[in-house]
Formats: sequence, structure tokens, C-alpha cells
Amino acid sequence: MKNLKNKTVLITGGARGIGKQIAIEFAAQGCNIIICDLDKSFFNRDNFKSNIEDIENFGVSCWGYNLDVTQYQDVVDTRKKILKNVGKIDILVNNAGVVFGGKFLDISIDQHKLTYDVNTQGVVNMLHVFLKDLIDSQESHIVNIASASSFTALPSGATYASSKASVSILSESLRLELLKDGNQHVGMTIVSPAYVNTGMFDGVKEPRFIPMLTTKKLATKIVQAVIKNKLIVLEPTFVKFIPLLKAILPRFLYDFVGDILGGYNTMDLWKGHSKK
Ligand SMILES: NC(=O)c1ccc[n+]([C@@H]2O[C@H](COP(=O)([O-])OP(=O)(O)OC[C@H]3O[C@@H](n4cnc5c(N)ncnc54)[C@H](O)[C@@H]3O)[C@@H](O)[C@H]2O)c1
Repeated sequence: MKNLKNKTVLITGGARGIGKQIAIEFAAQGCNIIICDLDKSFFNRDNFKSNIEDIENFGVSCWGYNLDVTQYQDVVDTRKKILKNVGKIDILVNNAGVVFGGKFLDISIDQHKLTYDVNTQGVVNMLHVFLKDLIDSQESHIVNIASASSFTALPSGATYASSKASVSILSESLRLELLKDGNQHVGMTIVSPAYVNTGMFDGVKEPRFIPMLTTKKLATKIVQAVIKNKLIVLEPTFVKFIPLLKAILPRFLYDFVGDILGGYNTMDLWKGHSKK
């Protein structure tokens, strides 16, 4: 999608962190922004204007909808409201996510379930409701935020990693379905970053050669990927080599390298903010 001016972008989980920065970077390209988030305080009448100041400073419009992506009927109702108040969207960014770090048995079954409900089913819900509109558009794009843990194991984050692996392969499969049906005008970008400085992974130990990303750096790469219709965003640079290393090294050697780089114990001291 070469020209983003006047396109409408819907971002789930856009009230803070990576989602908010994605909103700012799309706004900088002249896009109008729709933020959908669970966080009611973001939409509080007194707050909302100041919360979206950074977005409206670019001279674009911004709308906010309080939405829990795990609730299919809420997604259906929100689409109706958006169609009435804003019109059809051009770009859908599935960014909302949660993580609960800790040993598998120390995480409650409700937390495991919520991880899949938000990170995986939430994406399915959004796509199921909005895909037809994107197909009906002349040119549109889907951005699904996965994680580097979608292709390499994350001890003490097992359900998080697998929820993101689902998003990744869901996106790859859907992209091919779209192409097969002649809908190549619907672009797809899968974003798989390592750790980003939002607080979601507070306490984690950065692996060697994989420094914590800033939201600004990642969001800029995401917007560029949409402009260039790039399928995969892997950041920072070392993450690009992980799938190759995993494919060519025998597992004992891959595990050894993972250990040496500190990749397998990053979550040991996770505090995050989902815990609160
Ligand atoms: N921070 C990282 O290190 C990192 C790394 C890789 C991938 N990611 C992914 O990037 C995305 C954004 O992460 P972040 O670090 O900005 O997290 P964050 O916690 O700062 O922001 C997540 C946002 O999602 C919203 N949200 C949570 N559940 C929701 C629901 N059911 N419905 C609607 N909104 C909901 C929250 O209210 C919040 O505004 C997530 O999908 C995350 O898994 C993050």
C-alpha cells in the first residue's frame, strides 16, 4: 500500500505500548486512526482527548472504542458502530495481547485460557468480523502482531509462545487463501519481535545480541512493511537468524546456543504488568 494518506487504520490494544506507537506512526503518514481497547480509563471523557493528542497533532482524526476482542458479539457491534460513525477500515492491526509469565503449573488455568482467548481467539474474532470489508476494499492490509517466541521456545511463557505461533501460522494460511481467491489486494504482515520496552515483559533478562527494542523503532518498521507490502517483520536483527539456526542445527546444539545466549531463561524474573 504505497500511499497511506487518508486511509483508516483500526488498532486493537492501541491504548498503550506498541499499539499506541503504531497509531502515532500511521497518523504521521496521514492515516485516520481507530483505537479499540479493553482499558476503559483510556476512553474516560476527561482523558480521551489528552490520550490521543500525539495522534491528532498530525492533523488526522482519531476515534476510540472500548472493546474486548475476546467477545465476538462486541466485535460485531463495534464494527456496526464504526461503519456508522467512520466508514470502512483499510488497515486492521491485531495488536492486543496479554502474557502471564511463570512455570506452567504456577499459572492458573484461567490465565492460560485468557492468553489464548486474547492473543489467538481475539485475532480470529477480529478477522472473522472485518475480513469481508477488507476484501471489498480496493486495497487493504492486515497486520498481525505475533512474537519471536512464535518460532522459538519460551520456557515460563509456554502458552504465550504457542498463542503467538498460532497467530503466525493463521496469518500465513489466510494470506494464501486470499491469494488463491484472487484477493491479492489484501496485504498481510506478520510481526515477530523479541522484547520491546513497554512494561509487558518487565523483569526479563535480555538475551545476548538481542537488545530490548523501542516501540518507536518497531512501529516505524511495521508502517514501512505495510507501505512495501512486506510479509514478515523480524526485529531486532539477530531474530532474523533464529529460524535458520533452528532448521540447520541438531536440537542439542540449538539448545546449547540458546542457553549460551541466555535465550532460555529470559522469563525467570518476569514481572510484567499483566500480573497486576
Ligand atoms: N512488549 C514486548 O516485549 C512484546 C514482544 C513481542 C510481541 N509483543 C506483542 O505486541 C502486542 C502489544 O504488546 P505491548 O507490549 O504493547 O503490550 P501492552 O500490555 O503494553 O499493551 C497491550 C494492550 O492490549 C490491550 N488489551 C489487552 N487485552 C485486551 C482485550 N481482550 N481486548 C482489547 N484490548 C486488550 C491492553 O489494554 C493494552 O492497551 C501484544 O500482542 C504482545 O504480545 C510484545
